[in-house]
Amino acid sequence: MFCKFLGLILFVGCFCSLVQSQAVDAEGHQWWQHAVFYEIYPRSFMDSNNDGIGDLNGIASKLDYLKSLGIDAIWITPCYPSPQVDFGYDVSDYENIDPMYGTLADFDRLQKAAAQRGIRIIMDFVMNHTSDQHAWFLDSRSSRTAAKRDWYMWHDAKDSAEPNNWVSIFGGPAWTWDAKTGQYYYHYFYPQQPDLNWRNPAVHDAMFDVTRWWYQRGVAGFRLDAVDTLFEDPELRNNPVLPGKDKFGDPNEENLYNAKLPEVHVVLRDLRKVADQNNAVLIGETWTKDVSELKQYYGEHSDELQMPMDFMFTTVDRLSPAEFRRQIAAVDSAGGWPVFVLSNHDIVRASVRYGDGKNNQAIAKLMASLYLTLRGTPIMYYGEEIGMVNNDPVRKEDVKDPIGRVGWPEEKGRDGERTPMQWDDSPNAGFTRGTPWLPVPLSYKTVNVASELKDSSSVLQVYKSLLALRHESRALLDGDYVALNQNDANVLSYLRRYKNEAVLVVLNMSSHPQQVSFDLGPQGFSAKSVRTLVATAPVSKAVSLSHLSLQPFSVYIGAVSK
Ligand code: NOJ
Ligand code: CA
Repeated sequence: MFCKFLGLILFVGCFCSLVQSQAVDAEGHQWWQHAVFYEIYPRSFMDSNNDGIGDLNGIASKLDYLKSLGIDAIWITPCYPSPQVDFGYDVSDYENIDPMYGTLADFDRLQKAAAQRGIRIIMDFVMNHTSDQHAWFLDSRSSRTAAKRDWYMWHDAKDSAEPNNWVSIFGGPAWTWDAKTGQYYYHYFYPQQPDLNWRNPAVHDAMFDVTRWWYQRGVAGFRLDAVDTLFEDPELRNNPVLPGKDKFGDPNEENLYNAKLPEVHVVLRDLRKVADQNNAVLIGETWTKDVSELKQYYGEHSDELQMPMDFMFTTVDRLSPAEFRRQIAAVDSAGGWPVFVLSNHDIVRASVRYGDGKNNQAIAKLMASLYLTLRGTPIMYYGEEIGMVNNDPVRKEDVKDPIGRVGWPEEKGRDGERTPMQWDDSPNAGFTRGTPWLPVPLSYKTVNVASELKDSSSVLQVYKSLLALRHESRALLDGDYVALNQNDANVLSYLRRYKNEAVLVVLNMSSHPQQVSFDLGPQGFSAKSVRTLVATAPVSKAVSLSHLSLQPFSVYIGAVSK
């Protein structure tokens, strides 16, 4: 039944030209406001040379898949040379590709092939820290008078111990003693990830040159890693200690003096100027606690990040219409362009967080229908479109992510959400003919791209339909968001409204059948029925607005006219 509606929503719009255009519609929207982004963890996407690790040529071989899915931009997590202590988030050369992922020539080929298909590439910019094997740090630690000594945060011991009480988010003190030069260096993350000193203008200039270098290679923007940790208190004041211990056994503390310092915004404004010269987008890894914090990252004059990532959905831990309604309304009123994320390489996959074990596929479709129909830009995570689940390690000795070894068993690390993409039902899910760097879960036999392409009611087909609809519907591209039936505890409903057209989205978040009715008169729509666009349970082509029946966890999306 579902496939009956596919014909109604075939994707016709495309960004055929990737010239340095600005607004893409009469509303003044930019390309990134109409784009669907897709995060690729390169180790795990597709292995072209069968060494068990994904690579750039592997990504290139899947561009047609991404195009047919409806993806406009891919964000590739770090693929630069790196000792891989933090799987690429410890960069030892910002202007190259790690041999395990390929070469710069491979990158250029990928970039060109993607552009030919109207797909842009976003690189991950690890701004806060480098690898301890970066030439800058090797020089910096070589002596107290080294040319780059001040490129990092070196400080004397205090009372024969660390300069202050700051702890690393990855466990242990945030300071490591360097016996050779007799000082501590600072690292918000692992000791192998020393923090750059962003107060040094030479660091600022070198890092800005990196962005220009990649823009010249054709990248369309950056995802800014750990951006709120760029600056630290110059007086190194102790953070306030909070009750309890973290997962690594360290005291909890409020990061008052080593995160979210106001100086971050000066750097963001500068980065934005360079981005604007390149028609590029800046996406921020911004862990904001509420909308007032989120607002700051757009900039007072909308001159900072175009897309600060809003992770608030990832903090909603159950299918609660009231909670989602609250989060959507808050973000929608923040003044900037909303960004929605369900999962990424640091967060347990959404299918596991919301799944009940019995209706996981229906719930995956429900969540997709939610965040792909909201006003704003979604950032998908590879594998989400087939309903991939976590495959968490069960034994400490199997853990690859260092935080999982340090924090075991409470913190199992992030391996579970980083497993190989499941392409088909052949060994290793078609990801590699070698030994995959992380094991594929047994569910790959049915949860895989090839099988789901053949099944008209699969999670993948729902994603394809939703993405097609997003690209062609003016109401979904440009319309406002109007919450409906706000007291309904089971069904989340809203209208996306643009001039004479509107799309009604109705999501049954409960395990029971539900009946809903709508009066859209106050919203300027007098129609009594709605034309079905996407539905995950059998319905007719037109449905009465006064009697809409929904099966458990089902989705109904329809077009409403005046
Ligand atoms: C955030 C990244 O998403 C995460 O994977 C990484 O470990 C830290 N930043 C450090 O770069
Ligand atoms: Ca490989």
